[in-house]
This record gives sequence, structure tokens and C-alpha cells, in this order.
Amino acid sequence: MRKPLIIANWKLNKTKAESKAFVAEFSEKIKDSQNDVDVILSAPFTSIETVVTELKTTGLDKVEVAAQDVSQFESGAYTGEINTAMLKELGVTSVIVGHSERREIFNEDNSVIKAKSEKVLKDSLKLIFCCGESLETREANKTDEWIESQINAVFKELDYSTIKEGQISIAYEPIWAIGTGKTCDSEEANRVIANIRTLVKKLLPENLAETVRILYGGSVKPGTIEEQMAKSDIDGALVGGASLKPEDFSQIVNLSAPKAAVK
Ligand code: PGA
Repeated sequence: MRKPLIIANWKLNKTKAESKAFVAEFSEKIKDSQNDVDVILSAPFTSIETVVTELKTTGLDKVEVAAQDVSQFESGAYTGEINTAMLKELGVTSVIVGHSERREIFNEDNSVIKAKSEKVLKDSLKLIFCCGESLETREANKTDEWIESQINAVFKELDYSTIKEGQISIAYEPIWAIGTGKTCDSEEANRVIANIRTLVKKLLPENLAETVRILYGGSVKPGTIEEQMAKSDIDGALVGGASLKPEDFSQIVNLSAPKAAVK
């Protein structure tokens, strides 16, 4: 059994003051499930240090902090970029790579996403790799081959010799379900995720494949999470809109705890 993993993706939201207020309220609400669910907060670069500090202050020492992006480059003349060393210095442990907003709005193609993924893994950060199809691809019945091509582009020729167990997570996020309020039917999300699991088992060494958590993302809410987590292959969720309010996000975390652990 893989431990549930719930990730907040704040996107372009929350100043330092707002981030601090979020953690203060959130910490009160999830103290009881801290040991049963792994939680990661993906803050904007400017709030990362505040979130790391506040998590320590409020005793949420198991909650980790992710960056929403990173440069594929080591250092040098790359205006506006942030590298892995800068993130690690702030206390970041994971990075989201390949989010559909990076792919679509910022034109990141598979080769950029591969370079970023390799950089993250080589520098001992955890990779949260996103994939997902557009509505057009879904309606053309090409979802499965599309997802397979996105995953192959990064994971087919990766040097697995230095990658650690648990260092890779994958989020399946159908683009048409992101920020739209249209959740993907949980049966269908589970089917796609089961296919991803099969592919991961084919591409990765067995010990690593077993520890890859595969999440669903796209309009996850307190009202949808229980049904999603009850599915055989869904290991967790990547949450955008509903992660902005401590009340909603704490409910999602608490409802993801394995039933036996709920008091
Ligand atoms: P959403 O975003 O929950 O607002 O749909 C999910 C995501 O983009 O990661």
C-alpha cells in the first residue's frame, strides 16, 4: 500500500502574508492526519521561505514544500530563472514539472520537460511530473496514446541508477478538468491511472516503479476526494483551486487518510 499523497498547487496566488495566514489556519486543522497522509504545499517562489518557516513554527514538520517550476540550467545568463540549488537552500524538497499551464501558456515542450525532470532528479529533489490530454484529444479517442507519449518522452531513456525510491510521483490531470469545475469521472480517471501504472512498471526498475505515486488532478474538491481515493489505482491528488482555502484543503487531506486511521 502506498501512502496517500495530497499536493496543493497555489499557482500565481498568495503573497507572503497570505501564505503565513494559510499555514497558521491549516496546521490546526490537519494535525491529526499528519502521519497518515503525505502533504506538499507548492507555493510561489517568493512565499517558499515563509511557508517553510511557518510549517516549522506550527509543528507541521512532516508537511513538505514544493516549487511549481525550476530551470533546467545549472547557472548563468538565464534571466528570470531559478535553479535547483536556490530551491534546496530554501527548504524545497519537490518540484512540479510538466504542468499543462507550463506546457500550453509557456510553450514548454517534451524536450524542455525532460531536461527539467532530469535536473530535478539528478539534484536529489523529488519530481512531481504532470501529464494530461486536451478535450480535443479526448474527443478524438486519443487519450491513452497521448498520455503514453508524454510519459515515454521523459521516462523511457532516463538514467535510473541514481534515482531513489519515492523520488518520482506522476499526476494525471486532464486539461479540460483543470480549473473548470468539471471533474473527470473517477472510474475513468482510475482507468487512465491504471494504464499509467502499467507503463511505469514497464519503464522503471521494479523497486522504483512500486513507489511511484500516481495522483489525479482537475477540480478536486472536498466533495469529490473520498470517491477518488476509494479507487484502486489513485494514490492521491494534485489540487489547484480548492487548495487556496485552508478549510477546503484540510478537508481534502483529512478525507484522504486511510479509513482505519480516521479516529
Ligand atoms: P484545479 O487545478 O484543482 O483548480 O482544477 C489542478 C491543477 O492545475 O493542478
